[in-house]
Order: sequence, then structure tokens, then C-alpha cells
Amino acid sequence: MNAHASAPVTITVTGAAGQIGYALLFRIASGAMLGPDVPVKLNLLEIPQAAQAAEGTVLELMDCAFPLVTGLEVFDDPFKAFDGANIAMLVGSRPRGPGMERADLLSANGGIFSVQGKALNAGAADDLKVVVVGNPANTNALIAASHAKDIPASRFTALTRLDHDRALAQLSAKTGTPVSEIKRLTIWGNHSATQYPDISHATVAGRPAIELVDQQWLADEYIPRVAKRGAEIISVRGGSSAASAANAALEHMRSWVQGTSDGDWTSMAVPSDGSYGVPEGLVSSFPVTTANGDYSIVPNLEISEFSRARIDASVAELESERSAVAELGLL
Ligand code: NAD
Ligand code: LMR
Repeated sequence: MNAHASAPVTITVTGAAGQIGYALLFRIASGAMLGPDVPVKLNLLEIPQAAQAAEGTVLELMDCAFPLVTGLEVFDDPFKAFDGANIAMLVGSRPRGPGMERADLLSANGGIFSVQGKALNAGAADDLKVVVVGNPANTNALIAASHAKDIPASRFTALTRLDHDRALAQLSAKTGTPVSEIKRLTIWGNHSATQYPDISHATVAGRPAIELVDQQWLADEYIPRVAKRGAEIISVRGGSSAASAANAALEHMRSWVQGTSDGDWTSMAVPSDGSYGVPEGLVSSFPVTTANGDYSIVPNLEISEFSRARIDASVAELESERSAVAELGLL
């Protein structure tokens, strides 16, 4: 560990001993998220039964001798783990297994996020940024925000970057164009099978994507393939996506902190300000640009009838998740 001129950024990662945690922590420590000049202090939160495994990860992190790491600590108390946190990556929760829908996780995981919202409210830093990865991610972010009354709800976001990256990769494969040449793709709605991967504003090597693919492929293959990719990974891999999810969580936070590039945007699930007819407060995925540590929903995009129906269906699912967690007393 080295001494650094600038103050380290405190990053709390929950579920640190899990699959995603293991794929995420080493990359954050290497500087891949915040850049090669930003020192980081890593707080690892786990449940007591998994704290020892997280201590093992700390031993390995030490053994990497990452120059940017100024602190490494394991906690089983969220109030201690989030104390002073600038960035919170809420991964810890149960993943779904084969045959389960994400909605099955509402009651199993919802309780985790009310406690963590309170703990963030009690001690996180003023510039806190939160990404919720644990499923059902959008509604868990809503729960956490609703228990953190002193923190602007806009700081609570959920991960749809994995869906965004899956959508990029599938369009890249179909058109034979590198992902770097694909811009302005959007994931709308929930991180679930109702999500809507939208290429209607996307360009592929400067050409409108919709001119390069046919409508039937879009409706019957592309959209369902991207939306159900999580289940495909579970069935082929025998466990839920881990390294790709960790990469997406890192990219989500990297974009938020470091900004999106000119002429492009990314997808983030953020509390709606009413844009595009999404009821205010629902944590729904939108096209966003980021600059100076803030994000903005891309305004004034034309929404076709095809898109409208799909956005509405996913938003309806988010509304039903919100009602379900309200009934469980989690809001
Ligand atoms: P995992 O079971 O390997 O690890 C989860 C870890 O969380 C475990 O170590 C567990 O002890 C810990 N944990 C449970 N409750 C906790 C709590 N209250 N505080 C701190 N830690 C706690 O699971 P995983 O594969 O790492 O997946 C984690 C979550 O991420 C799952 O809910 C999964 O569905 C979700 N996920 C989301 C996306 C996305 O794109 N949003 C993608 C992949 C996975
Ligand atoms: C994914 O999209 O891979 C994760 O959300 C895991 C899941 O349950 O689908």
C-alpha cells in the first residue's frame, strides 16, 4: 500500500464473498473503475457466516500489492461498513436459480435493502453514489432510497448496464460491426424479462441500426434474447452471471464518475422524474448521459408505438413490484 496525495475514495461493496464480489473487487482495486490515479479504500460487507470468506479475499487483495489500495476491511455491520462511503455497490443478496423469476426474490431480498438504506442514511458521505446489483435490482434500489430520507433519491441507481452491454454485443454479432462503432442504444424499464432493448435511435458505424436489421429479427430474436440472457446464462453456466455482471457494475460506476463520451449515451436504472411517461419515483432504466459526476436522462427522443407498448409493459411490472413491496411493509 502506498501513500497518496489525494484522499482515497471509500467504496463499500456488499456481498463481498460472493461470485460477483470476487470478480469485482480486484478490478476496482486495480484502478479499472475510478482511474489509475485515484486511491481507494475498500469496505467489504458480508453476513456473519460469510465474513471469514471475505477475509480470505482481503488476504488475496493484499497479495496483489495494488498501489492504489489504501485500506481493506471486512464488516458484518452495515452501519460500520457504509460509514464515510462515497460509493456503495450493493451486490449482496440471493441470486435466482434455474426456473425462478426475479420477482421470486422480492421478499427474499427486499429486507436487506431497507436496513442498508438506513445505514447509508446514517453515515455515508455527502457525495454518495449507489448502484444496486442484487435482484430485483430496480425495486431494491427503490427500497433502499425510501429508507434514506436525507439522501437525494437520485443517488440510488440500479444496474441495467449488463443488459445494455448484452444488447450491444448481440447487435455487433448480427451486423458484423465492432461494439465500439455502435452508439445510442437504450435499455428501458426493469432489469427483467420485460425490459426493452431499443435500437430505434442506435447507429451502427454511423448508419441507423434499424436499416440494417429486419423487424422480425428484432421482435422475435433480438429483444427476447437480450431480455432473457440472464436465464440463458443460468441454464448454460449452472449459476447466475458473475464476471459480466461485475464488469457491468464497474462500467456503470465508471461512466457515472468519469462521464459518457460525446454523441453517445448509456443505460442506467434511475428514479424517474416523469420522463417518457414513467411514473415519478419508479427506478426504471433510461438512456442517460453523464458528466461531472451527475447523470441526466436523454430528453425528447421520439418514441414509436412499438417502443411505447414495450416501455409501458416493463413499467407496469415495476409498478406491480412497487405495490408488492409496499404490501410487505418494505417502503
Ligand atoms: P452469490 O450468492 O455468489 O453472493 C451473494 C453474496 O451476498 C453472498 O456471499 C452472501 O453471503 C452475501 N449477502 C447476502 N445477504 C447479505 C447482506 N445482507 N449483506 C451483505 N452481504 C450479503 O451471488 P452473486 O452471484 O454474487 O449475485 C449477487 C446478486 O446479484 C444476486 O441477487 C443476483 O441475482 C444479482 N445479479 C444482478 C445482475 C444485474 O445485472 N443487475 C446480474 C447478475 C446478478
Ligand atoms: C442476469 O441478468 O444475469 C442476472 O440478473 C441474473 C438473473 O437472475 O438473471
